[in-house]
Amino acid sequence: MKNTFSVLRISGLIALAIILAELTIETGDQSVLEVYPIFWLVLGVILLLAIAIEVSVAALDKTLYMSLKPDDRAAYDAAVAVREKNRFAWFKETYDKLLDKKPIENEDEIILDHNYDGIKELDNNLPPWWLYGFYASIIFAGIYLARYHVFDGATQKDEYLAEVAEAKAAVEAYKENAKGFIDANTVELLTGTEDINAGKAIFSGNCAACHKIDGGGGIGPNLTDSYWILGGGIKNVFNTISEGGRAGKGMVSWKTDLKPEEIAHVASYVLSLHSTTPLDPKEPEGELWVDPDARVDEVKVETIDSASIEIEMSYEEE
Ligand code: HEC
Repeated sequence: MKNTFSVLRISGLIALAIILAELTIETGDQSVLEVYPIFWLVLGVILLLAIAIEVSVAALDKTLYMSLKPDDRAAYDAAVAVREKNRFAWFKETYDKLLDKKPIENEDEIILDHNYDGIKELDNNLPPWWLYGFYASIIFAGIYLARYHVFDGATQKDEYLAEVAEAKAAVEAYKENAKGFIDANTVELLTGTEDINAGKAIFSGNCAACHKIDGGGGIGPNLTDSYWILGGGIKNVFNTISEGGRAGKGMVSWKTDLKPEEIAHVASYVLSLHSTTPLDPKEPEGELWVDPDARVDEVKVETIDSASIEIEMSYEEE
């Protein structure tokens, strides 16, 4: 028994040392033991010290005991026995109270009258731990009923919607404050010469390798036609450049290399290439893009052959 307590004390001390170190030393997601292997050494020292203390205390105990007179020894032994006996008395009492079981020798007090082919039934009290749990659940149900069905408390859905609204407001506030913040929702087509030239510089530096310097297409699709795999218009093109194309196709996300403003420039430049005639254009890929915001006054459809048509749309400038 004594040894068990020594082992428990020492393990507790080691565990405490580890927990304290984890709480006080900043190591991110990793454990202290991974980041500072020297900590193993510290633990080793603590372990040795703890063992030394346990051993010395035990030895001291023994020496004192030996120095006692036989009468005193008996008194000491008796005191220790009482202490041992009462050590877990509180736990044991609580445990017994929570079960409220009749001791087996008193079972005849609660045995019921009937007898089913020799099988008899005891009328035990309900175990208090269960009974109190039951009462607690009744109280909980009452509060729940009142809160959500009588006083219309916020449901999970309401809470979720409130949180989303809060987060949206925070995003809006952030966009207001971050001057020049551009994303796929707020981007506008730029047409100024300076902007287009800035876009052109980015395009020839980063994009021409795959899309050709004139946008005619190579590894990447033709950017001058009206057909888009990932959607045309400034918002879609901005989004494609920022987030990349379909996985494995070769068009990577550029948002880590280019600032939002630069993506807006190069996207505007790409759109300025529309309807130009590249040297060696790639076949159109994707779908014909019609700007959903465009006010179309007239649509002309011409059949070229059984597989293709040409669509011309015009609208009057205000
Ligand atoms: C490594 C080659 C490569 C580079 C470099 C590259 N692209 Fe692409 N790009 C592609 C490929 C391949 C696709 C087709 C993606 C798909 O099919 O999902 C594509 C698609 C696109 C699209 C959409 C076309 C459509 O039809 O929807 C745009 C716009 C685009 N790229 C612009 C750019 C811009 C701007 C740059 C430079 C910042 C760039 N690309 C750099 C290979 C490249």
